[in-house]
Amino acid sequence: MRRFLGILVILKYCICSDVHDFDGDIKDFVVGNSKLFVLTDHRLHQMRHDLTEEKSKDTKASEHNRVNILVPFDENSTLITCGTFNNGYCEVLDINDITNSIYYESDILIGPRQDEKSVAFISGTSSSKYLLVGKKDDDAKPRDTRYSVVTLLSTSQSQPGGIFSRMAEGSDAFIESTVRDVEFVDGFQRVSPSESYLFLNTKADSERKVLVLWMNSSKERKIEIIKSLQASRIRCCSDKARPVLVASTVIPSVNRVIWAGVFSAQNQQDPENSALALYDISHVKGRVKGFCHNGENTCGSESDTELQPLSVVFKYSSMSAVAAVRSGSWIVLFIGTSDGQLIKLVLDEKFTPGCPTVLFKSDDERKVFPRMHFDPVDFKHIYIALKKQLRRVSVVSCAKYITLKDCRAALDPLCGWCVNTHRCSTQEECLKSSWVSIPKDSLQKKLVSFQVWAEKSSNKITLHLSLSLESTGNPAFSCTFNTGTMNLCDGSDPPAVFPNCSCSFSVLSDQLQYTRGLPISAEVAVEDQKMTEMLMLKNCLNIKDNSQSASYTQCVQCVSSGCHWSSSSERCDWTLVPGEQLQTQDVCNGLFYEMEYKKPEILSLEPNKVSFHGRNNVLLRGRNLESVTKIRIQGDLECIPKESPVFDRSSDTLRFHIPPSGTKGTVKVCVVTPDDRCHGNSIITYSSQPSCTGIQPTVSWSSGGRKIHLQGSNLELVESVTVLPSNKVMKTQQYNTSSWDVWFVSVPYDGSGQFRLLLNVGNSTVDCVDYFSYKPDPEFTGFTTLQVANDLQVNIQKKADMLNLSMNEVTVTGLQGNQQYPCVLERIESNAIICKIKGESGHVPEVDSLTINIGNFSITLRKTTWNYRFVLILFYFIFLLIFLIFCILLLLFRRNIRSVFPVQWPL
Ligand SMILES: *[C@@H]1O[C@H](CO)[C@@H](O)[C@H](O)[C@H]1NC(C)=O
Ligand SMILES: *[C@@H]1O[C@H](CO)[C@@H](O)[C@H](O)[C@H]1NC(C)=O
Ligand SMILES: *[C@@H]1O[C@H](CO)[C@@H](O)[C@H](O)[C@H]1NC(C)=O
Ligand SMILES: *[C@@H]1O[C@H](CO)[C@@H](O)[C@H](O)[C@H]1NC(C)=O
Ligand SMILES: *[C@@H]1O[C@H](CO)[C@@H](O)[C@H](O)[C@H]1NC(C)=O
Ligand SMILES: *[C@@H]1O[C@H](CO)[C@@H](O)[C@H](O)[C@H]1NC(C)=O
Ligand SMILES: *[C@@H]1O[C@H](CO)[C@@H](O)[C@H](O)[C@H]1NC(C)=O
Repeated sequence: MRRFLGILVILKYCICSDVHDFDGDIKDFVVGNSKLFVLTDHRLHQMRHDLTEEKSKDTKASEHNRVNILVPFDENSTLITCGTFNNGYCEVLDINDITNSIYYESDILIGPRQDEKSVAFISGTSSSKYLLVGKKDDDAKPRDTRYSVVTLLSTSQSQPGGIFSRMAEGSDAFIESTVRDVEFVDGFQRVSPSESYLFLNTKADSERKVLVLWMNSSKERKIEIIKSLQASRIRCCSDKARPVLVASTVIPSVNRVIWAGVFSAQNQQDPENSALALYDISHVKGRVKGFCHNGENTCGSESDTELQPLSVVFKYSSMSAVAAVRSGSWIVLFIGTSDGQLIKLVLDEKFTPGCPTVLFKSDDERKVFPRMHFDPVDFKHIYIALKKQLRRVSVVSCAKYITLKDCRAALDPLCGWCVNTHRCSTQEECLKSSWVSIPKDSLQKKLVSFQVWAEKSSNKITLHLSLSLESTGNPAFSCTFNTGTMNLCDGSDPPAVFPNCSCSFSVLSDQLQYTRGLPISAEVAVEDQKMTEMLMLKNCLNIKDNSQSASYTQCVQCVSSGCHWSSSSERCDWTLVPGEQLQTQDVCNGLFYEMEYKKPEILSLEPNKVSFHGRNNVLLRGRNLESVTKIRIQGDLECIPKESPVFDRSSDTLRFHIPPSGTKGTVKVCVVTPDDRCHGNSIITYSSQPSCTGIQPTVSWSSGGRKIHLQGSNLELVESVTVLPSNKVMKTQQYNTSSWDVWFVSVPYDGSGQFRLLLNVGNSTVDCVDYFSYKPDPEFTGFTTLQVANDLQVNIQKKADMLNLSMNEVTVTGLQGNQQYPCVLERIESNAIICKIKGESGHVPEVDSLTINIGNFSITLRKTTWNYRFVLILFYFIFLLIFLIFCILLLLFRRNIRSVFPVQWPL
């Protein structure tokens, strides 16, 4: 029983650990040391970090009674809440039990009166802590020219004025502004040194600006903190102005204060409406016009300063939230969007972004609440709010990568290959073992790279292989180099040292003279993880292109063969010293080149809507497609494009397979030429998979050829239908967007039984609800004709069957000599088919035979002269004949008896 309860507890834990739905929209939520506090329309909830609710408290909220300040004060084990109820109030709650109120004060309005954004946090040093509040001044009078925007409130009775007092030493202390329209978006306090940052949007004379305010909160007294005000304008970005800050986060850093902001251009139609930019805000120096501390004569001098981004790392139509963690030199950003996605983005130490990955996608379009918080206990989960729902999303999903190669390809610094457990996991999950991970600054590097160098004196070539990996321990590591089945190396190489190995060998120069080079396969093993990489070894001196302008292609070939490209002489040479291998794009970009091909163009893609399973045999129509080497497919949220080989090509058409996709939405398709350029920009939309709710009709005759229509949704994405268990693949007809009628034709099959239908979509299958079966071909026994006015009515006798033939499936043709007459179907009965042959110009046609075609079944019926009347006459005739014969026989019999037995019988 106890074990059973245990399982129940675990189940409950699992269900509660991911999502919690509240009965009202989430207005705000904060995290304390190990708890979450969630504010909904009517209630304040106290949650454990696994999202189980511990306590909740009515907030007496109605439309005009809202809670507008929610600040955890962990050092004091309290939670500060303020609201608009009772002319405004503030309350101090026990952080471990929010139903326990420690202090309550009414007639005090600290947060915004209206439903506006505001910022509040605890600032100051351990000896003097204040509640800092930034908000728009709601109580300003029309004649006012300066508005109070930032205030410091006492947090204990011993401070000036007592708890929640604005009073400073002797006078008031607040920051004021000449700008009426301010919106505080975010703010935080840095711990050491104590500095407070506030971020706000302003609008004056229809000019919008983003500002940062800085204060030295190491100072003891409120007035000194206020007087230390510095401010600066923050600009984003160079491609277009995005003057509104939506959300922001500070990125944990050692010596600098790096801050990331989501900026919006306020144009929902723009796919790059919002941008995520990083700034160094360590030294906010200067003042902006219109912001000053109270008591200053002129509000804000003209010494405007501006902060420009260090890097703009991501652009998307609708970002709404951002949070960040650091892992060594890596930064991992989490981005919430207005369409309900949580995106993870990795930055290297130079703030170069890796590939965004979608951690969570809501099934509907709910905006992610601007504030997101990490699990205070282990930082391995992030909390996001979507309307009524709070979710706890894991920030790492290493376990889905099952090989070292995939684990590295994820480009996630939080994931590495754990040698002992043979799994891709976080470093914390991989104790006492080597943890093989992506080295810093390796976002753009390939996993395996080669370099070749030659000793001029001998014929010796050394091939150097380097893995872009680093490890905490020293994992077992080995390499084998083969050409064909032969080991290539002469054994003179030093042993492989993770992550490098090399192979020296002698080579006859003519072995490399072939233009294609010497194919080499390198097998690398890191513990039990094996990878094979192919290299075409070329004579570096021989990588030439005959045409003058081909230096770009030559450079690409040179670098990818492990040779050295000399940019001064524009020649390919052997590498002289082993060193870091450069990437093609670094070396070869900027080389002048001329196109030696006609620029390809894409005119259309058929189909251009596929399911997320992908699609085979997509037809691309265009011009000048001869030079196309492959197709590149680029998604919005993918920075590594997918590539597909082409086949069935001509100059104006080619075919390729569209690979499956993890997300729905549009992708861009372009065609790649040998110089690695991509031409064209067509769109393919990934949508949901098809569903099959039935088929009509559900039976076929055994000769096949019956048109079977599919019923369901997204059926135009079906490529073919498989009938199980016979495993016959029946091709569906190309879909027709104007009719939405998708059908396939049954193949011949001699047998019966029920079959399952599978719809083939890309390389996946979808089940059909209905079963499919075969019945024998229809049987016809004969036909009769009857003249009706000028026409000839034909009645075809058929056996009753289960086929439920329909009129458009049957074609009947009458034949008279060489003359053919179409017989127009009138009706189909269970044991007859009636059709009519039109008479022409008063002449009633006659037919000898009929041909009936039903799908791939065909039969010819001959008209027998054995019609009914004839049979009747024949029957009479035969009956008469038999009667006559009988009479004759009887007469003969009598005569014979008399001659044999002369005694008269009494007759
Ligand atoms: C902590 O909270 C209590 C109750 O409001 C208050 O009396 C005390 O002064 C606070 N301490 C500090 C350091 O703010
Ligand atoms: C902040 O104030 C403290 C105390 O007065 C001072 O020591 C420190 O240098 C100030 N910091 C800055 C950046 O001005
Ligand atoms: C491995 O080779 C690279 C160059 O390819 C070099 O920079 C690195 O220092 C080498 N590492 C070791 C451990 O030898
Ligand atoms: C698609 O269906 C419409 C209407 O049924 C028809 O007019 C058109 O010719 C069809 N197109 C193709 C390509 O079959
Ligand atoms: C289906 O599998 C074949 C063979 O593995 C592959 O070439 C093709 O690209 C795949 N098609 C899709 C749509 O994934
Ligand atoms: C026979 O076909 C008609 C129309 O083609 C259809 O409505 C009906 O449901 C079918 N009956 C059976 C028993 O399949
Ligand atoms: C069935 O008929 C169709 C069209 O008349 C034809 O294309 C197909 O080859 C036939 N199938 C067989 C197996 O005879």
